[in-house]
Amino acid sequence: PPSAEEAVRPAAAPGAETDQALSLTILYGTQTGNAEQMASDIAGIARSRGFQPRVAPLDSIEMDELAGLKRLLIVTSTYGQGEMPDTARGFWDALCGEDALDLGGLSYSLMAMGDSGYETFCAAGRDIDERLQALGARSIEPRVDCDTNYAATAFAWVDRALAAASGVEGEDAEIALGGMPSESAVRSRWSRRNPYASRMAVNRRLSREGSAKDTRHIEFDLGDSGLTYEAGDCIGVIPQNDKGLVDAMMSHFGACAHVSVAGYDKPLGALLTETLEISTPSRDLVGEVARLSGDAELKHILDNGDRQSLDAWLWGRDILDLLGMMPKDAMGLSDFVGLLKPLQHRAYSIASSPKEHPGSIHLTVGTIRYRSHGRMRQGVASTYLADRVAEGATVPIFPSPNRAFRVPEDDDAPMIMIGPGTGVAPFRAFLQERRARGAGGRNWLFFGDQHRSRDFLYEDEFVAMQAGGLLNRLDLAFSRDQAEKVYVQHRMRENARELFAWLEEGAHLYVCGDATHMAADVEQALVEIVAAEGGMSADGAEAYLERLRKEKRYLRDIY
Ligand code: 2AM
Repeated sequence: PPSAEEAVRPAAAPGAETDQALSLTILYGTQTGNAEQMASDIAGIARSRGFQPRVAPLDSIEMDELAGLKRLLIVTSTYGQGEMPDTARGFWDALCGEDALDLGGLSYSLMAMGDSGYETFCAAGRDIDERLQALGARSIEPRVDCDTNYAATAFAWVDRALAAASGVEGEDAEIALGGMPSESAVRSRWSRRNPYASRMAVNRRLSREGSAKDTRHIEFDLGDSGLTYEAGDCIGVIPQNDKGLVDAMMSHFGACAHVSVAGYDKPLGALLTETLEISTPSRDLVGEVARLSGDAELKHILDNGDRQSLDAWLWGRDILDLLGMMPKDAMGLSDFVGLLKPLQHRAYSIASSPKEHPGSIHLTVGTIRYRSHGRMRQGVASTYLADRVAEGATVPIFPSPNRAFRVPEDDDAPMIMIGPGTGVAPFRAFLQERRARGAGGRNWLFFGDQHRSRDFLYEDEFVAMQAGGLLNRLDLAFSRDQAEKVYVQHRMRENARELFAWLEEGAHLYVCGDATHMAADVEQALVEIVAAEGGMSADGAEAYLERLRKEKRYLRDIY
Protein backbone atom coordinates (compact mmCIF):
# COMPACT_ATOMS: atom_id res chain seq x y z
CA PRO A 1 0.00 0.00 0.00
CA PRO A 2 1.16 3.58 -0.64
CA SER A 3 2.53 5.47 2.31
CA ALA A 4 0.25 8.01 3.94
CA GLU A 5 2.16 10.85 2.39
CA GLU A 6 1.89 9.47 -1.12
CA ALA A 7 -1.79 8.81 -0.85
CA VAL A 8 -2.75 12.44 -0.25
CA ARG A 9 -0.60 13.86 -2.96
CA PRO A 10 -2.34 15.60 -5.78
CA ALA A 11 -1.72 13.74 -8.99
CA ALA A 12 1.58 15.50 -9.70
CA ALA A 13 4.39 14.94 -7.26
CA PRO A 14 5.50 18.09 -5.46
CA GLY A 15 8.64 19.44 -6.97
CA ALA A 16 8.10 17.71 -10.28
CA GLU A 17 9.32 19.79 -13.19
CA THR A 18 6.08 19.75 -15.10
CA ASP A 19 2.80 21.31 -14.04
CA GLN A 20 0.87 18.28 -15.19
CA ALA A 21 -1.28 15.73 -13.41
CA LEU A 22 -0.26 12.15 -14.14
CA SER A 23 2.11 12.12 -17.06
CA LEU A 24 1.57 9.34 -19.55
CA THR A 25 3.69 8.69 -22.61
CA ILE A 26 2.09 6.88 -25.54
CA LEU A 27 4.53 5.64 -28.18
CA TYR A 28 3.45 4.05 -31.43
CA GLY A 29 4.99 2.00 -34.17
CA THR A 30 2.95 2.33 -37.32
CA GLN A 31 3.16 1.38 -40.95
CA THR A 32 -0.17 2.51 -42.34
CA GLY A 33 -1.34 4.90 -39.62
CA ASN A 34 -3.61 2.53 -37.71
CA ALA A 35 -1.46 2.36 -34.60
CA GLU A 36 -0.90 6.11 -34.74
CA GLN A 37 -4.64 6.70 -34.80
CA MET A 38 -5.08 4.25 -31.95
CA ALA A 39 -2.38 6.09 -29.97
CA SER A 40 -4.17 9.36 -30.46
CA ASP A 41 -7.53 7.79 -29.50
CA ILE A 42 -5.91 6.45 -26.34
CA ALA A 43 -4.57 9.91 -25.58
CA GLY A 44 -8.11 11.29 -25.78
CA ILE A 45 -9.42 8.67 -23.41
CA ALA A 46 -6.44 9.13 -21.08
CA ARG A 47 -7.04 12.86 -21.00
CA SER A 48 -10.64 12.32 -19.97
CA ARG A 49 -9.42 10.06 -17.15
CA GLY A 50 -7.12 12.67 -15.66
CA PHE A 51 -3.81 12.00 -17.39
CA GLN A 52 -1.68 14.45 -19.32
CA PRO A 53 -0.78 12.25 -22.27
CA ARG A 54 1.79 12.89 -24.96
CA VAL A 55 2.01 10.89 -28.14
CA ALA A 56 5.08 10.23 -30.27
CA PRO A 57 6.56 7.62 -32.61
CA LEU A 58 8.71 4.93 -30.95
CA ASP A 59 11.68 6.09 -33.00
CA SER A 60 11.58 9.54 -31.43
CA ILE A 61 12.69 8.39 -27.99
CA GLU A 62 16.31 7.88 -26.87
CA MET A 63 17.14 4.99 -24.57
CA ASP A 64 18.18 7.19 -21.63
CA GLU A 65 14.87 9.03 -22.00
CA LEU A 66 13.02 5.73 -22.00
CA ALA A 67 14.70 4.84 -18.71
CA GLY A 68 13.43 8.12 -17.19
CA LEU A 69 9.75 7.43 -17.95
CA LYS A 70 7.29 6.24 -15.31
CA ARG A 71 4.12 5.40 -17.24
CA LEU A 72 4.27 4.23 -20.82
CA LEU A 73 1.77 2.70 -23.23
CA ILE A 74 3.03 1.29 -26.51
CA VAL A 75 0.89 0.59 -29.54
CA THR A 76 2.59 -1.15 -32.39
CA SER A 77 1.66 -2.99 -35.53
CA THR A 78 3.78 -5.64 -37.23
CA TYR A 79 5.10 -5.27 -40.75
CA GLY A 80 5.68 -7.90 -43.42
CA GLN A 81 7.10 -11.14 -42.04
CA GLY A 82 7.03 -10.24 -38.35
CA GLU A 83 9.16 -7.13 -38.79
CA MET A 84 9.08 -3.85 -36.96
CA PRO A 85 7.01 -1.15 -38.66
CA ASP A 86 8.90 1.86 -40.08
CA THR A 87 8.47 4.14 -37.09
CA ALA A 88 9.74 1.50 -34.64
CA ARG A 89 12.86 0.13 -36.34
CA GLY A 90 15.37 2.56 -34.87
CA PHE A 91 13.80 2.05 -31.46
CA TRP A 92 14.09 -1.71 -31.73
CA ASP A 93 17.72 -1.56 -32.84
CA ALA A 94 18.60 0.71 -29.93
CA LEU A 95 16.67 -1.45 -27.47
CA CYS A 96 18.53 -4.56 -28.59
CA GLY A 97 21.88 -2.78 -28.67
CA GLU A 98 21.90 -1.75 -25.02
CA ASP A 99 22.25 -4.73 -22.75
CA ALA A 100 23.19 -2.59 -19.76
CA LEU A 101 20.06 -0.45 -19.97
CA ASP A 102 18.15 -0.46 -16.67
CA LEU A 103 14.42 0.01 -17.12
CA GLY A 104 13.63 -0.80 -13.49
CA GLY A 105 11.74 2.48 -13.01
CA LEU A 106 9.43 2.01 -15.98
CA SER A 107 5.86 0.71 -15.79
CA TYR A 108 4.32 -0.01 -19.16
CA SER A 109 1.73 -1.95 -21.07
CA LEU A 110 1.66 -2.83 -24.73
CA MET A 111 -0.99 -3.21 -27.41
CA ALA A 112 0.10 -5.23 -30.41
CA MET A 113 -1.93 -4.88 -33.59
CA GLY A 114 -1.90 -7.50 -36.27
CA ASP A 115 -3.73 -9.93 -38.44
CA SER A 116 -4.16 -13.48 -37.14
CA GLY A 117 -4.17 -14.63 -40.76
CA TYR A 118 -0.39 -14.30 -40.62
CA GLU A 119 1.86 -16.71 -38.79
CA THR A 120 3.83 -13.81 -37.39
CA PHE A 121 0.68 -12.34 -35.78
CA CYS A 122 1.69 -9.42 -33.52
CA ALA A 123 5.35 -10.47 -33.60
CA ALA A 124 6.75 -6.94 -33.33
CA GLY A 125 4.69 -6.21 -30.25
CA ARG A 126 5.62 -9.52 -28.65
CA ASP A 127 9.34 -8.90 -29.28
CA ILE A 128 9.27 -5.41 -27.76
CA ASP A 129 7.23 -6.68 -24.80
CA GLU A 130 9.72 -9.45 -24.05
CA ARG A 131 12.75 -7.21 -24.50
CA LEU A 132 11.36 -4.50 -22.17
CA GLN A 133 10.81 -7.07 -19.45
CA ALA A 134 14.27 -8.52 -19.94
CA LEU A 135 15.62 -5.02 -19.25
CA GLY A 136 13.69 -4.79 -15.98
CA ALA A 137 10.59 -2.82 -17.02
CA ARG A 138 7.37 -3.77 -15.24
CA SER A 139 4.35 -4.75 -17.34
CA ILE A 140 1.41 -3.36 -15.36
CA GLU A 141 -1.21 -4.93 -17.60
CA PRO A 142 -0.55 -7.95 -19.81
CA ARG A 143 0.00 -7.25 -23.49
CA VAL A 144 -3.09 -7.43 -25.66
CA ASP A 145 -2.84 -8.86 -29.17
CA CYS A 146 -5.47 -7.26 -31.38
CA ASP A 147 -6.71 -8.87 -34.56
CA THR A 148 -8.10 -6.92 -37.51
CA ASN A 149 -11.47 -6.48 -35.86
CA TYR A 150 -10.02 -5.00 -32.73
CA ALA A 151 -12.23 -2.28 -31.30
CA ALA A 152 -13.78 -4.13 -28.36
CA THR A 153 -10.60 -5.92 -27.29
CA ALA A 154 -8.55 -2.78 -27.74
CA PHE A 155 -10.77 -0.46 -25.73
CA ALA A 156 -11.20 -3.00 -22.94
CA TRP A 157 -7.39 -3.11 -22.72
CA VAL A 158 -7.24 0.71 -22.72
CA ASP A 159 -9.59 0.70 -19.72
CA ARG A 160 -7.47 -1.77 -17.80
CA ALA A 161 -4.13 -0.28 -18.77
CA LEU A 162 -5.20 3.23 -17.73
CA ALA A 163 -6.57 1.94 -14.43
CA ALA A 164 -3.25 0.21 -13.78
CA ALA A 165 -1.27 3.29 -14.84
CA SER A 166 -3.21 5.51 -12.46
CA GLY A 167 -1.81 3.47 -9.59
CA VAL A 168 1.81 4.13 -10.59
CA GLU A 169 3.51 6.79 -8.47
CA GLY A 170 6.01 9.42 -9.58
CA GLU A 171 6.62 11.64 -12.56
CA ASP A 172 8.66 11.29 -15.73
CA ALA A 173 12.06 12.86 -15.99
CA GLU A 174 11.76 15.89 -18.27
CA ILE A 175 12.38 14.88 -21.87
CA ALA A 176 11.78 16.44 -25.24
CA LEU A 177 10.16 14.00 -27.61
CA GLY A 178 10.70 14.70 -31.26
CA GLY A 179 8.18 14.10 -33.97
CA MET A 180 5.10 15.74 -32.56
CA PRO A 181 4.49 18.83 -30.48
CA SER A 182 4.56 17.64 -26.90
CA GLU A 183 1.64 18.85 -24.85
CA SER A 184 3.74 19.40 -21.80
CA ALA A 185 6.06 21.66 -23.77
CA VAL A 186 3.50 24.40 -24.01
CA ARG A 187 3.02 26.10 -20.69
CA SER A 188 0.09 28.00 -19.43
CA ARG A 189 -0.20 30.06 -16.31
CA TRP A 190 -3.08 27.80 -15.24
CA SER A 191 -2.48 24.13 -14.66
CA ARG A 192 -3.64 21.12 -12.65
CA ARG A 193 -1.53 22.32 -9.75
CA ASN A 194 -2.46 25.94 -10.20
CA PRO A 195 -6.06 25.91 -11.43
CA TYR A 196 -8.15 28.99 -12.10
CA ALA A 197 -11.15 29.46 -9.80
CA SER A 198 -13.72 30.14 -12.44
CA ARG A 199 -17.23 31.41 -11.68
CA MET A 200 -19.99 29.12 -12.89
CA ALA A 201 -22.24 31.60 -14.68
CA VAL A 202 -24.83 29.19 -16.07
CA ASN A 203 -26.07 25.72 -15.14
CA ARG A 204 -29.03 24.94 -17.35
CA ARG A 205 -30.83 21.70 -18.16
CA LEU A 206 -30.61 20.78 -21.84
CA SER A 207 -32.63 17.59 -21.62
CA ARG A 208 -36.31 18.28 -21.09
CA GLU A 209 -39.04 17.03 -18.75
CA GLY A 210 -39.45 13.26 -19.00
CA SER A 211 -35.98 12.55 -20.37
CA ALA A 212 -34.12 9.54 -19.00
CA LYS A 213 -31.04 11.75 -18.96
CA ASP A 214 -30.01 14.91 -17.18
CA THR A 215 -27.70 16.75 -19.56
CA ARG A 216 -26.51 20.22 -18.55
CA HIS A 217 -25.26 23.29 -20.33
CA ILE A 218 -22.59 24.81 -18.07
CA GLU A 219 -20.85 28.15 -18.61
CA PHE A 220 -17.67 29.23 -16.85
CA ASP A 221 -16.63 32.86 -16.66
CA LEU A 222 -12.99 33.44 -17.54
CA GLY A 223 -12.92 36.86 -15.85
CA ASP A 224 -9.47 38.44 -15.99
CA SER A 225 -7.70 35.05 -15.93
CA GLY A 226 -6.18 35.45 -19.38
CA LEU A 227 -7.05 31.77 -19.90
CA THR A 228 -7.33 31.08 -23.62
CA TYR A 229 -8.56 28.09 -25.60
CA GLU A 230 -9.38 26.95 -29.13
CA ALA A 231 -12.48 25.27 -30.55
CA GLY A 232 -11.77 21.54 -30.13
CA ASP A 233 -9.92 21.84 -26.80
CA CYS A 234 -10.91 20.24 -23.52
CA ILE A 235 -10.94 21.79 -20.06
CA GLY A 236 -9.82 20.08 -16.87
CA VAL A 237 -12.27 20.29 -13.97
CA ILE A 238 -11.15 19.53 -10.41
CA PRO A 239 -14.24 18.14 -8.66
CA GLN A 240 -15.24 17.56 -5.06
CA ASN A 241 -16.97 14.51 -3.67
CA ASP A 242 -20.58 14.40 -2.55
CA LYS A 243 -21.16 15.41 1.08
CA GLY A 244 -23.60 12.55 1.62
CA LEU A 245 -20.97 10.01 0.64
CA VAL A 246 -18.30 11.73 2.75
CA ASP A 247 -20.65 11.74 5.76
CA ALA A 248 -21.53 8.07 5.28
CA MET A 249 -17.85 7.20 5.22
CA MET A 250 -17.08 9.21 8.35
CA SER A 251 -19.99 7.70 10.19
CA HIS A 252 -18.78 4.21 9.28
CA PHE A 253 -15.60 4.99 11.23
CA GLY A 254 -17.45 6.95 13.91
CA ALA A 255 -15.24 9.93 13.09
CA CYS A 256 -16.13 13.58 12.57
CA ALA A 257 -14.89 15.99 9.91
CA HIS A 258 -12.40 17.73 12.21
CA VAL A 259 -10.50 14.59 13.11
CA SER A 260 -6.91 14.69 11.94
CA VAL A 261 -5.29 11.66 10.38
CA ALA A 262 -1.63 10.97 11.11
CA GLY A 263 0.57 12.08 8.25
CA TYR A 264 -1.97 14.38 6.59
CA ASP A 265 -2.09 18.14 6.65
CA LYS A 266 -5.88 18.41 6.29
CA PRO A 267 -8.70 17.28 8.54
CA LEU A 268 -10.59 14.13 7.57
CA GLY A 269 -13.63 15.94 6.13
CA ALA A 270 -11.50 17.98 3.72
CA LEU A 271 -9.39 14.97 2.76
CA LEU A 272 -12.44 12.93 1.81
CA THR A 273 -14.10 15.87 0.05
CA GLU A 274 -11.25 17.41 -1.92
CA THR A 275 -8.25 15.13 -2.03
CA LEU A 276 -9.11 11.46 -2.19
CA GLU A 277 -11.14 9.26 -4.54
CA ILE A 278 -13.94 7.82 -2.40
CA SER A 279 -16.06 6.06 -5.00
CA THR A 280 -13.78 3.76 -6.99
CA PRO A 281 -11.54 1.53 -4.85
CA SER A 282 -7.83 0.95 -5.47
CA ARG A 283 -6.67 -2.63 -6.05
CA ASP A 284 -4.96 -2.52 -2.68
CA LEU A 285 -8.18 -1.59 -0.92
CA VAL A 286 -10.06 -4.42 -2.65
CA GLY A 287 -7.32 -6.83 -1.58
CA GLU A 288 -7.47 -5.69 2.05
CA VAL A 289 -11.26 -5.91 2.11
CA ALA A 290 -11.09 -9.44 0.72
CA ARG A 291 -8.64 -10.39 3.46
CA LEU A 292 -10.45 -8.72 6.35
CA SER A 293 -14.00 -9.61 5.34
CA GLY A 294 -13.25 -13.22 4.53
CA ASP A 295 -15.70 -12.88 1.64
CA ALA A 296 -15.30 -16.16 -0.22
CA GLU A 297 -16.53 -14.95 -3.62
CA LEU A 298 -14.24 -11.91 -3.70
CA LYS A 299 -11.30 -13.92 -2.44
CA HIS A 300 -11.90 -16.53 -5.11
CA ILE A 301 -12.00 -13.87 -7.83
CA LEU A 302 -8.79 -12.23 -6.61
CA ASP A 303 -6.96 -15.55 -6.31
CA ASN A 304 -8.19 -17.29 -9.43
CA GLY A 305 -10.09 -14.86 -11.61
CA ASP A 306 -8.84 -12.59 -14.36
CA ARG A 307 -9.27 -8.87 -14.42
CA GLN A 308 -12.56 -9.09 -16.31
CA SER A 309 -14.18 -11.13 -13.57
CA LEU A 310 -12.95 -8.65 -10.96
CA ASP A 311 -14.26 -5.74 -13.04
CA ALA A 312 -17.59 -7.51 -13.36
CA TRP A 313 -17.73 -7.99 -9.59
CA LEU A 314 -16.78 -4.36 -8.95
CA TRP A 315 -19.33 -3.00 -11.43
CA GLY A 316 -21.96 -1.04 -9.53
CA ARG A 317 -20.06 -1.38 -6.25
CA ASP A 318 -18.20 1.46 -4.61
CA ILE A 319 -15.98 1.95 -1.58
CA LEU A 320 -18.94 2.27 0.78
CA ASP A 321 -20.17 -1.16 -0.34
CA LEU A 322 -16.73 -2.60 0.40
CA LEU A 323 -16.71 -1.05 3.87
CA GLY A 324 -20.08 -2.65 4.51
CA MET A 325 -18.63 -6.10 3.85
CA MET A 326 -16.27 -5.95 6.82
CA PRO A 327 -16.95 -6.07 10.54
CA LYS A 328 -17.07 -2.47 11.81
CA ASP A 329 -13.65 -2.39 13.43
CA ALA A 330 -11.78 -4.62 11.02
CA MET A 331 -10.00 -1.74 9.29
CA GLY A 332 -8.72 1.36 11.08
CA LEU A 333 -9.38 4.85 9.75
CA SER A 334 -5.77 5.68 8.95
CA ASP A 335 -5.21 2.36 7.17
CA PHE A 336 -8.36 3.02 5.16
CA VAL A 337 -7.30 6.55 4.20
CA GLY A 338 -3.88 5.23 3.17
CA LEU A 339 -5.54 2.84 0.73
CA LEU A 340 -7.45 5.54 -1.17
CA LYS A 341 -6.28 6.92 -4.53
CA PRO A 342 -5.89 10.64 -5.15
CA LEU A 343 -9.00 12.33 -6.56
CA GLN A 344 -8.44 12.88 -10.28
CA HIS A 345 -9.55 15.79 -12.40
CA ARG A 346 -11.88 15.17 -15.35
CA ALA A 347 -11.52 16.60 -18.85
CA TYR A 348 -14.58 17.85 -20.75
CA SER A 349 -14.76 18.79 -24.42
CA ILE A 350 -15.49 22.50 -24.73
CA ALA A 351 -18.77 23.35 -26.50
CA SER A 352 -17.99 26.96 -27.41
CA SER A 353 -15.64 28.88 -29.69
CA PRO A 354 -13.51 31.62 -28.09
CA LYS A 355 -14.18 33.73 -31.18
CA GLU A 356 -17.87 33.96 -30.23
CA HIS A 357 -17.40 33.65 -26.46
CA PRO A 358 -13.98 35.08 -25.62
CA GLY A 359 -14.78 35.48 -21.93
CA SER A 360 -16.32 32.11 -21.23
CA ILE A 361 -16.16 28.37 -21.68
CA HIS A 362 -19.26 26.28 -22.33
CA LEU A 363 -19.59 22.58 -21.52
CA THR A 364 -22.19 19.93 -22.29
CA VAL A 365 -22.24 17.64 -19.29
CA GLY A 366 -24.02 14.29 -19.15
CA THR A 367 -24.89 13.68 -15.52
CA ILE A 368 -24.17 10.15 -14.41
CA ARG A 369 -26.67 8.72 -11.92
CA TYR A 370 -27.79 5.13 -11.52
CA ARG A 371 -29.09 2.76 -8.92
CA SER A 372 -27.30 -0.40 -7.93
CA HIS A 373 -27.16 -2.69 -4.91
CA GLY A 374 -30.03 -0.74 -3.38
CA ARG A 375 -28.44 2.71 -3.42
CA MET A 376 -28.12 5.64 -5.84
CA ARG A 377 -24.64 6.08 -7.34
CA GLN A 378 -23.34 9.13 -9.14
CA GLY A 379 -20.45 10.29 -11.30
CA VAL A 380 -18.10 12.46 -9.25
CA ALA A 381 -17.43 15.38 -11.60
CA SER A 382 -20.73 15.42 -13.50
CA THR A 383 -22.88 15.62 -10.36
CA TYR A 384 -20.40 18.04 -8.79
CA LEU A 385 -21.07 20.40 -11.71
CA ALA A 386 -24.79 19.68 -11.94
CA ASP A 387 -25.74 19.57 -8.23
CA ARG A 388 -23.03 20.76 -5.92
CA VAL A 389 -21.85 24.03 -7.43
CA ALA A 390 -24.41 26.83 -7.24
CA GLU A 391 -24.51 29.36 -10.07
CA GLY A 392 -22.11 32.13 -9.04
CA ALA A 393 -19.81 29.82 -7.06
CA THR A 394 -16.35 28.95 -8.37
CA VAL A 395 -14.87 25.78 -9.85
CA PRO A 396 -11.13 25.07 -10.27
CA ILE A 397 -10.41 24.61 -13.99
CA PHE A 398 -7.33 24.52 -16.20
CA PRO A 399 -6.67 24.20 -19.95
CA SER A 400 -6.30 20.77 -21.50
CA PRO A 401 -5.52 21.42 -25.17
CA ASN A 402 -6.49 18.97 -27.87
CA ARG A 403 -4.34 20.28 -30.73
CA ALA A 404 -5.15 17.47 -33.11
CA PHE A 405 -8.89 18.22 -33.03
CA ARG A 406 -9.49 21.41 -34.99
CA VAL A 407 -11.73 22.80 -37.74
CA PRO A 408 -10.06 22.57 -41.17
CA GLU A 409 -7.43 25.25 -41.78
CA ASP A 410 -9.01 25.66 -45.19
CA ASP A 411 -12.22 27.63 -44.58
CA ASP A 412 -13.65 26.28 -47.83
CA ALA A 413 -13.22 22.59 -46.98
CA PRO A 414 -16.48 20.78 -46.20
CA MET A 415 -16.88 19.43 -42.68
CA ILE A 416 -18.84 16.30 -41.62
CA MET A 417 -19.44 15.96 -37.87
CA ILE A 418 -20.79 12.86 -36.14
CA GLY A 419 -21.65 13.54 -32.52
CA PRO A 420 -24.49 11.68 -30.80
CA GLY A 421 -25.36 12.56 -27.20
CA THR A 422 -22.86 14.82 -25.43
CA GLY A 423 -20.50 14.04 -28.31
CA VAL A 424 -22.11 17.03 -30.00
CA ALA A 425 -20.24 19.44 -27.70
CA PRO A 426 -17.13 20.16 -29.81
CA PHE A 427 -19.27 20.45 -32.93
CA ARG A 428 -21.28 23.29 -31.42
CA ALA A 429 -17.84 24.87 -30.91
CA PHE A 430 -16.76 24.08 -34.48
CA LEU A 431 -19.91 25.60 -35.97
CA GLN A 432 -19.51 28.75 -33.88
CA GLU A 433 -15.86 28.89 -34.93
CA ARG A 434 -16.73 28.67 -38.63
CA ARG A 435 -19.48 31.27 -38.27
CA ALA A 436 -17.06 33.65 -36.53
CA ARG A 437 -14.43 33.09 -39.21
CA GLY A 438 -16.95 33.61 -41.96
CA ALA A 439 -15.80 30.24 -43.31
CA GLY A 440 -17.65 29.36 -46.50
CA GLY A 441 -17.17 25.57 -46.41
CA ARG A 442 -20.26 23.38 -46.13
CA ASN A 443 -21.14 21.82 -42.77
CA TRP A 444 -23.01 18.58 -42.07
CA LEU A 445 -23.97 17.41 -38.59
CA PHE A 446 -25.19 13.96 -37.55
CA PHE A 447 -26.76 14.04 -34.11
CA GLY A 448 -28.65 11.36 -32.22
CA ASP A 449 -30.18 10.72 -28.83
CA GLN A 450 -33.11 8.86 -27.30
CA HIS A 451 -36.18 11.05 -27.98
CA ARG A 452 -36.59 14.11 -30.14
CA SER A 453 -39.01 15.84 -27.78
CA ARG A 454 -36.76 15.49 -24.73
CA ASP A 455 -33.16 14.93 -25.81
CA PHE A 456 -32.53 17.17 -28.82
CA LEU A 457 -29.59 19.05 -27.30
CA TYR A 458 -29.29 22.68 -28.46
CA GLU A 459 -32.27 22.17 -30.76
CA ASP A 460 -33.00 25.89 -31.19
CA GLU A 461 -29.40 26.69 -32.00
CA PHE A 462 -28.92 23.95 -34.57
CA VAL A 463 -32.27 24.65 -36.21
CA ALA A 464 -31.33 28.34 -36.43
CA MET A 465 -27.92 27.47 -37.88
CA GLN A 466 -29.66 25.39 -40.49
CA ALA A 467 -32.17 28.12 -41.32
CA GLY A 468 -29.33 30.66 -41.54
CA GLY A 469 -27.38 28.48 -43.96
CA LEU A 470 -24.39 27.76 -41.69
CA LEU A 471 -25.47 24.15 -41.23
CA ASN A 472 -26.07 22.77 -44.70
CA ARG A 473 -27.26 19.40 -43.49
CA LEU A 474 -28.60 18.24 -40.15
CA ASP A 475 -29.39 14.53 -39.93
CA LEU A 476 -31.01 13.26 -36.76
CA ALA A 477 -31.30 9.77 -35.28
CA PHE A 478 -33.66 9.49 -32.34
CA SER A 479 -33.17 5.94 -31.25
CA ARG A 480 -36.31 5.42 -29.15
CA ASP A 481 -38.97 7.33 -31.06
CA GLN A 482 -39.92 4.19 -33.01
CA ALA A 483 -39.99 0.46 -32.49
CA GLU A 484 -36.59 -0.26 -33.99
CA LYS A 485 -33.38 1.55 -32.98
CA VAL A 486 -32.11 4.24 -35.30
CA TYR A 487 -28.55 5.44 -34.75
CA VAL A 488 -26.35 8.04 -36.46
CA GLN A 489 -24.68 5.34 -38.54
CA HIS A 490 -28.09 4.43 -40.04
CA ARG A 491 -28.48 8.04 -41.18
CA MET A 492 -24.97 7.93 -42.60
CA ARG A 493 -25.82 4.80 -44.59
CA GLU A 494 -29.06 6.34 -45.87
CA ASN A 495 -26.99 9.25 -47.17
CA ALA A 496 -24.07 7.17 -48.38
CA ARG A 497 -23.84 8.68 -51.85
CA GLU A 498 -23.74 12.26 -50.69
CA LEU A 499 -21.44 11.50 -47.79
CA PHE A 500 -18.93 9.88 -50.11
CA ALA A 501 -19.24 12.78 -52.53
CA TRP A 502 -18.38 15.21 -49.73
CA LEU A 503 -15.31 13.14 -48.86
CA GLU A 504 -14.24 13.12 -52.48
CA GLU A 505 -14.58 16.90 -52.46
CA GLY A 506 -12.11 17.10 -49.59
CA ALA A 507 -14.40 17.01 -46.55
CA HIS A 508 -12.90 16.63 -43.09
CA LEU A 509 -14.73 14.04 -41.01
CA TYR A 510 -15.03 14.18 -37.23
CA VAL A 511 -16.41 11.74 -34.67
CA CYS A 512 -16.98 12.56 -31.00
CA GLY A 513 -18.57 10.56 -28.19
CA ASP A 514 -18.72 7.00 -26.91
CA ALA A 515 -15.55 5.03 -27.61
CA THR A 516 -16.75 1.57 -26.66
CA HIS A 517 -19.54 1.06 -29.17
CA MET A 518 -20.47 4.12 -31.19
CA ALA A 519 -17.06 5.01 -32.60
CA ALA A 520 -16.43 1.45 -33.79
CA ASP A 521 -19.92 1.12 -35.35
CA VAL A 522 -19.55 4.47 -37.10
CA GLU A 523 -16.19 3.37 -38.47
CA GLN A 524 -17.73 0.15 -39.76
CA ALA A 525 -20.46 2.17 -41.49
CA LEU A 526 -17.81 4.41 -43.06
CA VAL A 527 -15.93 1.43 -44.46
CA GLU A 528 -19.15 0.08 -45.98
CA ILE A 529 -20.13 3.46 -47.42
CA VAL A 530 -16.74 4.07 -49.00
CA ALA A 531 -16.64 0.52 -50.39
CA ALA A 532 -20.13 0.71 -51.89
CA GLU A 533 -19.98 4.24 -53.26
CA GLY A 534 -16.35 4.12 -54.33
CA GLY A 535 -16.66 0.68 -55.88
CA MET A 536 -13.89 -0.67 -53.64
CA SER A 537 -13.20 -3.85 -51.70
CA ALA A 538 -13.33 -3.68 -47.91
CA ASP A 539 -9.52 -3.50 -47.90
CA GLY A 540 -9.62 -0.69 -50.41
CA ALA A 541 -12.10 1.19 -48.27
CA GLU A 542 -9.92 0.72 -45.18
CA ALA A 543 -6.97 2.10 -47.13
CA TYR A 544 -9.12 5.07 -48.18
CA LEU A 545 -9.87 5.84 -44.52
CA GLU A 546 -6.17 5.41 -43.71
CA ARG A 547 -5.39 8.07 -46.26
CA LEU A 548 -7.93 10.39 -44.65
CA ARG A 549 -6.28 9.78 -41.29
CA LYS A 550 -2.84 10.52 -42.65
CA GLU A 551 -4.15 13.74 -44.17
CA LYS A 552 -5.69 14.59 -40.76
CA ARG A 553 -9.13 14.57 -42.37
CA TYR A 554 -10.56 11.80 -40.16
CA LEU A 555 -10.31 12.91 -36.54
CA ARG A 556 -11.87 11.46 -33.41
CA ASP A 557 -12.41 12.72 -29.87
CA ILE A 558 -13.81 9.64 -28.15
CA TYR A 559 -14.06 8.60 -24.53
P1 2AM B 1 -29.93 4.10 -27.17
O1 2AM B 1 -29.59 4.65 -25.81
O2 2AM B 1 -31.39 4.18 -27.47
O3 2AM B 1 -29.38 2.74 -27.43
C1 2AM B 1 -26.86 9.05 -27.52
O4 2AM B 1 -26.61 8.35 -26.34
C2 2AM B 1 -27.50 8.16 -28.53
O5 2AM B 1 -26.55 7.18 -29.00
C3 2AM B 1 -28.71 7.40 -28.02
O6 2AM B 1 -29.73 7.59 -28.94
C4 2AM B 1 -28.22 5.96 -27.99
O7 2AM B 1 -29.25 5.04 -28.25
C5 2AM B 1 -27.28 5.98 -29.16
N1 2AM B 1 -26.40 4.79 -29.26
C6 2AM B 1 -26.29 3.74 -28.41
N2 2AM B 1 -25.42 2.84 -28.88
C7 2AM B 1 -24.95 3.31 -30.05
C8 2AM B 1 -24.05 2.82 -31.02
N3 2AM B 1 -23.40 1.65 -30.86
N4 2AM B 1 -23.83 3.58 -32.12
C9 2AM B 1 -24.46 4.75 -32.28
N5 2AM B 1 -25.33 5.27 -31.43
C10 2AM B 1 -25.58 4.56 -30.31
